[in-house]
Amino acid sequence: MTRDKADHYTLQAKKEGYPARSVYKLKEINEKFRLLRPEMKVLDIGAAPGSWSLFVLRTLKNRCEVTAFDLQPLGITPPAGLVFLTVDAFGEKAATLISERGPFDLVMSDAAPATTGNRTVDTGRSFTIAESVLALVETHLSPGGSVVIKIFQGGDEKVLLERMKGLFGSARAFKPKACRSDSFETYLIGTDKKGV
Ligand SMILES: C[S@@+](CC[C@H](N)C(=O)[O-])C[C@H]1O[C@@H](n2cnc3c(N)ncnc32)[C@H](O)[C@@H]1O
Repeated sequence: MTRDKADHYTLQAKKEGYPARSVYKLKEINEKFRLLRPEMKVLDIGAAPGSWSLFVLRTLKNRCEVTAFDLQPLGITPPAGLVFLTVDAFGEKAATLISERGPFDLVMSDAAPATTGNRTVDTGRSFTIAESVLALVETHLSPGGSVVIKIFQGGDEKVLLERMKGLFGSARAFKPKACRSDSFETYLIGTDKKGV
């Protein structure tokens, strides 16, 4: 039996119609930080196979707009309320759509690099993604807005968190219980973005 098949969260996701177990990480994050509210505009970076976008739309009963990107196609038919492009979230096509559909009230990034097994390389690539997300947030997140950024631990995540403390009313790291026990990922959460 593979690790996925044996996992409680994977079985639960299947039962509830989500394409990935990662939905329970966002659920926990939302329970703790109360990020979702009706009529909000959400940007989902690294969205495939689609669980986080689907969770937002279901939780807010479609009273929201979700814009999402991934290098990979979604594993679900895009539900109403979701605009998804299979592109690099930090490339030109994404930038155009971000400008058209933003600013956003919540930017969430579960984006992760394809892992090599070399922890230094993998944490370095994860840091680069997280830094790019923060750059987007500086311009395209509304004052009062929130951000969730996945990052692999063991690199410079504290540097990023310090930068976030300057940008947000509150910023901290949070590791949901749904993260696999052998995973070195965590999430940086910034709430109440400061105005200019
Ligand atoms: C853990 S998965 C996301 C799972 C998703 N949150 C869900 O619940 O269905 C990480 C994703 O990040 C994507 N990714 C990594 N770098 C990216 C980039 N530069 N632009 C867009 N997507 C990226 C990968 O293709 C991968 O699908």
